[in-house]
Amino acid sequence: MFSLETLVILVCVCIAYFAYRSSFQLRNPLPPGPKGLPLVGSALDVPEKFSWLKFREWSHQYGSFYSLNLFGKTMIIISSPKILSEFTEKRHLNYSERPKLPMAVDLVGYDETTVFMPTNLMWKEHRRNYSKLFGTRAAMEKFFEMEVLGARRMMRAILNDPTGLAGSIRHWTTSLSLKITYGYETKPGNDDLISLADTVLRQFTHTQKPGAFMVDLVPSLKYLPAWFPGSGFKRTAELYRNDFHEMMDVPFNMVQEQLKKGVAKQSFTTDLLSAEDYSADKSYALKTSAVTIYGAAADTTAGQYHGLLVLMMLYPEVRKKAQQELDRVVGPDRLPDYSDRDRLPYLEACISEAMRLHVVTPLGGMRAAAKDDIYDGFFIPKGTLIQPNIWQMAHDPEVYEDPMEYIPERWLVQNPPLHPHDGICFGSGRRICPGIVLAESTVFIGAAMFLSLFDIYAVEGSPKFFDQSENGILDGETICHPKPFKSGIKPRSAKAEALIKSIDHEL
Ligand code: HEM
Repeated sequence: MFSLETLVILVCVCIAYFAYRSSFQLRNPLPPGPKGLPLVGSALDVPEKFSWLKFREWSHQYGSFYSLNLFGKTMIIISSPKILSEFTEKRHLNYSERPKLPMAVDLVGYDETTVFMPTNLMWKEHRRNYSKLFGTRAAMEKFFEMEVLGARRMMRAILNDPTGLAGSIRHWTTSLSLKITYGYETKPGNDDLISLADTVLRQFTHTQKPGAFMVDLVPSLKYLPAWFPGSGFKRTAELYRNDFHEMMDVPFNMVQEQLKKGVAKQSFTTDLLSAEDYSADKSYALKTSAVTIYGAAADTTAGQYHGLLVLMMLYPEVRKKAQQELDRVVGPDRLPDYSDRDRLPYLEACISEAMRLHVVTPLGGMRAAAKDDIYDGFFIPKGTLIQPNIWQMAHDPEVYEDPMEYIPERWLVQNPPLHPHDGICFGSGRRICPGIVLAESTVFIGAAMFLSLFDIYAVEGSPKFFDQSENGILDGETICHPKPFKSGIKPRSAKAEALIKSIDHEL
């Protein structure tokens, strides 16, 4: 038992600690922000979709750095690239971790992927894998030349069924990631691996929806046994975990088998498995970095590309200018390829502007503070969620004149504004997206081919402008896609149609 004296000392130490902490917090309060309700804070005011618009609205009152209370958890919203880089670059040691979401991370185990992994040795190995194999344009183009056939297949699919545009785009980007990662050749139409990959991605997206699982709000629920009434989320987690592991193992084992038989096609996985410095202890890092590519690449790139085509429909004079450039550089007798890229500055500007106007990941990548910190006199407790509002940055009227308009010409002046791939749309700091080159190359080849071969134009019932409000043209999800929309799509000429159909001889 404690003596009375020890007890008195302990109580005094506790009082002194809490007094110090309160006076510290008085001197260094949390960043300003809406008060919210008791217990829930502002959680009920954050909409499930288009939350970036609500965050922007609050920023008009509280500035480009403010805080929210979400069920007792502090979230800081940042809508200035300068402040964001202070966190993600200058203070990267404290702000490179991802939040530990109980459902996604503790129960399903998505922290086996790069996106949710803590910044440990495994994560470094992942990042090395990516930069070795597609960190540069030259390295990437080696992979990509293999996949020109995939882009041509998409053109054929669009010609067959222009109304199925969204599906053709998804099929293309998914096939592309599976081909680049595993050398896997998907079947046109239904393909087992695409279906599995789609299921896993849908499940993953479900776990990212704020409030979808009670356990994310009350983390201690994760300790409930699976049979306990109300713990159905545990069975869901098990199902998601099994599918995720299947997605990780099936293609990886397939490549290993093919390598043994000497029939494997070149891919991210074969290159790393056959690298000189490969050893069996790297196998797990390789497998988990490979499975991440599908999850991180296919849906984002599809959303970006689809958005570009919507804009080409809404801005016919821009489309015609891009097509005139393609006609000059490529001509009608062949399909564009990577060697044309440097000679297509207007098309490149169209892609940059589409990336700025249609931000596919409007909230970027969330981070969590590893320990307590002070910024500009404000207290940032350990575990605080750091949420960039990328959408707002890319639509800042101080930086981009007429920010809601599609103006590719803004990128063709001597001193263009901050490019969306510089610290905005692909994140920044240690956890910056490693797929920038791959994403931009994919969108480039898809755009060059489509615009060489097809016209896309408004018809009755088509949207009239790029309305980004809740009732507009986008779905408002974390990875934001255009909603299905009506358009006319037809080959630009008989020659273009023949070029598209020429693929039939190669299948
Ligand atoms: C238009 C397409 C894409 C967009 C808009 C996009 C955007 C992003 C963003 C905003 C982040 C979070 C960065 C941060 O926290 O600062 C991220 C992370 C990531 N992206 Fe992408 N991405 C795209 C395509 C790709 C592709 C093609 C790959 C293929 C490798 C990829 C792989 C990843 C990975 C692995 C991470 C996690 C990095 C980490 O946490 O260390 N992404 N991406």
